[in-house]
Amino acid sequence: MNRALCPGTFDPVTSGHLDIIERASALFDEVVVGVALSPDKGGGPLFTIDERIGFISDATAHLSNVTVQPFDTLLVEFAQSNDARVIIKGLRAVTDFEREFQMAQLNYRLDTNIETMFIMSIPEFAYLSSSAVKEIARHGGDLHGLVPDAVCAALAERLTQSH
Ligand code: PNS
Repeated sequence: MNRALCPGTFDPVTSGHLDIIERASALFDEVVVGVALSPDKGGGPLFTIDERIGFISDATAHLSNVTVQPFDTLLVEFAQSNDARVIIKGLRAVTDFEREFQMAQLNYRLDTNIETMFIMSIPEFAYLSSSAVKEIARHGGDLHGLVPDAVCAALAERLTQSH
């Protein structure tokens, strides 16, 4: 069984993330999407862990080999506990490289049995990020196609409430 792990904070999941998850699901027998609690990232996530998991589960319901789980440990420990030997990350522009390179090196230092592999983002999503999505939503911009419709609606609701 070749199982891969797609980790991230996914606050919220974007079409770019979903493209990487879908392409990974075509390459591996099973894909576990690991949603990091990341309580400290950027002043705390906008969406709760259950909301973030729900958005991804709904958007990947058509992919029978994809499951979604929370984690709050080291990534390599989460990979070990899921018997996954491959971590899949998406790479967008060259600006991602330095951070991803550092994480891949450290994770390899922590467990040499686990390999990090990268899938290049398609050009359409190369500049898409969860933070950009939140900023666009805050200003009432059009997000259709950049996030699932349910995320669009939840962003509008959440960001209106916080004003
Ligand atoms: O979506 P993100 O924020 O780029 O995802 C980052 C994530 C969650 C993959 C990363 O922060 C992570 O692996 N966190 C778990 C803690 C850990 O293992 N840190 C050491 C990696 S260098």
